[in-house]
Order: sequence, then structure tokens, then C-alpha cells
Amino acid sequence: MRVLAIESSCDETAVAVLDEVRGLLAHALHSQIDLHRVYGGVVPELASRDHLRRLVPLVRTALAEAGSTAADIDGIAYTAGPGLIGALLTGAALARSLAYAWGVPAVDVHHLEGHLLAPLLEPDPPAFPHVALLVSGGHTMLVEVRGIGDYQVLGETRDDAAGEAFDKTAKLLGLPYPGGPELARLASAGHEGAYAFPRPMLDRPGLEFSFSGLKTAVSRVVKDPLFDPARRADVAHGVESAIVGTLAAKALRALEATGLDTLVVAGGVGANRRLRATLEEAVTRRGGRVHFPRIEFCTDNAAMIAVAGLARLRAGERAPLAIEARAQWPLATLAPPSASAAYREGST
Ligand code: KG4
Ligand code: ZN
Repeated sequence: MRVLAIESSCDETAVAVLDEVRGLLAHALHSQIDLHRVYGGVVPELASRDHLRRLVPLVRTALAEAGSTAADIDGIAYTAGPGLIGALLTGAALARSLAYAWGVPAVDVHHLEGHLLAPLLEPDPPAFPHVALLVSGGHTMLVEVRGIGDYQVLGETRDDAAGEAFDKTAKLLGLPYPGGPELARLASAGHEGAYAFPRPMLDRPGLEFSFSGLKTAVSRVVKDPLFDPARRADVAHGVESAIVGTLAAKALRALEATGLDTLVVAGGVGANRRLRATLEEAVTRRGGRVHFPRIEFCTDNAAMIAVAGLARLRAGERAPLAIEARAQWPLATLAPPSASAAYREGST
């Protein structure tokens, strides 16, 4: 089976082709960073319009890169949520229409399931069950992944996501959007221990996160009239230490709590090098293993949507003919591919 996948939930337009036997044949991506930078964040309507412009050319690029034509495609997978509703609808409309025109099935994929399954694209994929630390711009959660579609959320953030904390504090430091990678770059020139920012919820039991206090603490420092701008790198380093330290401590706590020894790190913040190094060291020290998708598959991409879509199409799962997208879609409502196919057949 060969699947074409479309991702358009936020500010990346992406198309990939995944073959069940030959693996990933193509992945094409257009980032809208330049479009949104002047506004300091993603402008939803501009995102939708740009997806519309880019989607069809990207499908052509991906098919050419895969050495495929429409006739080689056996199914289409698309991100149906969660995300920006207008942006999601552009991808859903194209995916649904192509499937109809080409006479192949389509399946709607949960964006976070895509992130969770991205490590399966690597040559040495993680075994099930494992614990996943899912850290993106919109979500921060620890999930026990028992198999594809079998997810138990162990803990999540009560307020800001880790990526949001990176982005908001970066903005306070005057860094351009998207702040996460910019802050990480500035942090590498800072000194450890110069600023100690709060690591909320670490002193309490449980696997929940809270990052909103961090931006208040940083705001207090940088808005002080006596703040020396030469110390911005030290502040950035302090912020990165607080976020990475909190994520690592809770991820280790989740391994303890579940008795599992494999950790997967997924989502855009998984591209952070200090987070990767810290977890690699800590998990290896306790005899476990940590898996990261390659950096380009940590941030939004269509290859991960293809992985989830292929599993679900293989099991006979089909999206309804109507073009539907969901801004909100709780991960806990997903079921393993075969079970949900049966459920959907029974329900339609
Ligand atoms: O998964 P993703 O691409 O999009 C969402 O689904 O949200 O994650 C984007 C988030 C942004 O908040 C971005 O600042 C953050 O990931 N990010 C990083 C790094 N690269 C991306 N945060 C810290 N360090 C990085 N190197
Ligand atoms: Zn994402």
C-alpha cells in the first residue's frame, strides 16, 4: 500500500508519500515562518490562504520526488485536527477531493498521533509499550503508548505548553517568531546558574506541568529598569534550564511510575538540543533507552501523518465523505486502528 499524506494544521504545509514496503519515498514541506514573522505569531487567516496556494504544487513535488503518479496511490491520509480550523479545512478539502477523484479511500489523522508515531520512521524504532513525552507549541503531555492508537495520558500541562513557554519568553527577550529555536540559540551563549527560574510542579507528586509562571518571572526580570540587556543570554539559558529540567524530571518520573524503560520524545520542542542531551544522559543512566525522531520529523511534517494514516487505512478505517476537521480533538478518544474501524463501520 502506498499512501499520500497531507498536513496543514498550523503554519507548515506538508505532503509525503509513504510506501508500506519501500518506506518513505518523499516528503515536501513549505514553512510559513517568513509570512507570520512580522506579526510575531501565526495569523490563522493568512495561514489558511497560504496553505491553499501551496498545497497542490506540494502534492506535485512529492509525487515527482516519489517517482509516483496518482495511479500509484492507494489511499490518502490527512490531518483532521486538532489545530487551526481554517488551516485544517484546506488540507481536508484537498485530501478528500483527491481521494474522490482518484477513487481511493481517505482517512482522517489526529495530529498528535502523528507526532507520537514519528519515531517509527527511524531505522531502529521504539518497541511498545513506551512512555512518550509529547512537547509542541500547543501541547505538553506524558503518554503511555501501549500500541498504535492505544494511548493513556499520564499527565499534561495545566496552562501553557512547553513550546508556548519558549515562544512567550523569547518574545519578552525581543526575539523573533518562532521563539523556541531562537531562544535556544541565544541560551547557548549564556551561563548556567546566572538566573534560577521556577520549575513549577516539580516539588509536587504527579505528572502534570505548569509553565505560565515562567513567563511572569522572566517578565519581572527583563522589565526591571536596571536590567542589563547584555544579560539576555543568561536569562535565555535560565529559561531553557527551567523548561528542560522540568520536562526531564517528569519524564523520568513517568518511567518510574509505569515501570517502563523506553522513552520517546516527540513534537517541536523535541528538536531542542539540550532537551535531547539531558534526556539521553538521564535515561541511559537508569538503563533505559530514549528515541527521538530526526529533527525535521519533530516539528510538523506529513511523513508522521502518513505513518498513522497507513496503519489506519490498512485496518480498513475510512473517513466519512464529508469534509470535516476538528479544532479540538482529545487524544484519549482514539482507539487502535482495527477497533476503531469496526466501531466506525457499526456507527455509519
Ligand atoms: O510540533 P510543532 O512543530 O507544532 C505544533 O504542533 O505546535 O512545535 C512547534 C513548537 C514551537 O513552540 C517552537 O518554538 C518549538 O516547537 N521549537 C523549539 C525548538 N524548535 C521548535 N523549542 C525549543 N527549542 C527548539 N530547538
Ligand atoms: Zn505539531
